[in-house]
Amino acid sequence: MKYRIAPSLLSADFARLGEEVRNVIAAGADFIHFDVMDNHYVPNLTVGPLVCQAIRPHATVPIDVHLMVQPVDALVSEFAKAGATYISFHPEASRHVDRTIALIRDCGCKPGLALNPATPLEYLDWALDKIDLALLMSVNPGFGGQAFIPHTLDKLKLVRTRVDAAQQRTGREILLEVDGGVKADNIAAAARAGADTFVAGSAVFSGGDYGKTIGALRAALT
Ligand code: DX5
Ligand code: ZN
Repeated sequence: MKYRIAPSLLSADFARLGEEVRNVIAAGADFIHFDVMDNHYVPNLTVGPLVCQAIRPHATVPIDVHLMVQPVDALVSEFAKAGATYISFHPEASRHVDRTIALIRDCGCKPGLALNPATPLEYLDWALDKIDLALLMSVNPGFGGQAFIPHTLDKLKLVRTRVDAAQQRTGREILLEVDGGVKADNIAAAARAGADTFVAGSAVFSGGDYGKTIGALRAALT
């Protein structure tokens, strides 16, 4: 199993974002996780395509855009132009989930579907054959630094089975990403439950030495 660590810029120093991106990549980040919040779908407001475009030259790894916005579609092409690699969205925020997935693909990006802690898995059953990333939220979206919700582990196991089946059917790689409250002391449990891609915001950016923290996360996975 190839594991990926995706530091979330939500906990980075926004006054020095380019430098933060370079430092965290030098420290071993596989993806840059870019959280977009609109104060409508979630009760917080962060950054948009202009900031994604600004960090793009600093990001030598894929940018994993996580849209927590409603509506979704108008922002998809903006983030594609701004250099997003993956674009994930929440099914509750799109009127036409299948259409949004197709739109992300048509814009040249890799589509992901993000499920909240209480969102049923049925959404995935009708999307897995077309997406490249399943994102399971292990906190309610909107804020960094929240505690990991334990029932995510049971959900991850169910999604792992579905993802494996879809990968066999389609021959395409589908990442299973867990997002929220991931730390060195719970990342192994998330991996055992089936996650292969791990978002870590506060764990990485509040830890001081990024190399040490990412190293500790990776060490817990071996
Ligand atoms: C929450 C965001 C997460 C969050 C992760 O709405 O989607 O990506 O920033 O931060 P931590 O790791 O601090 O929970
Ligand atoms: Zn996120």
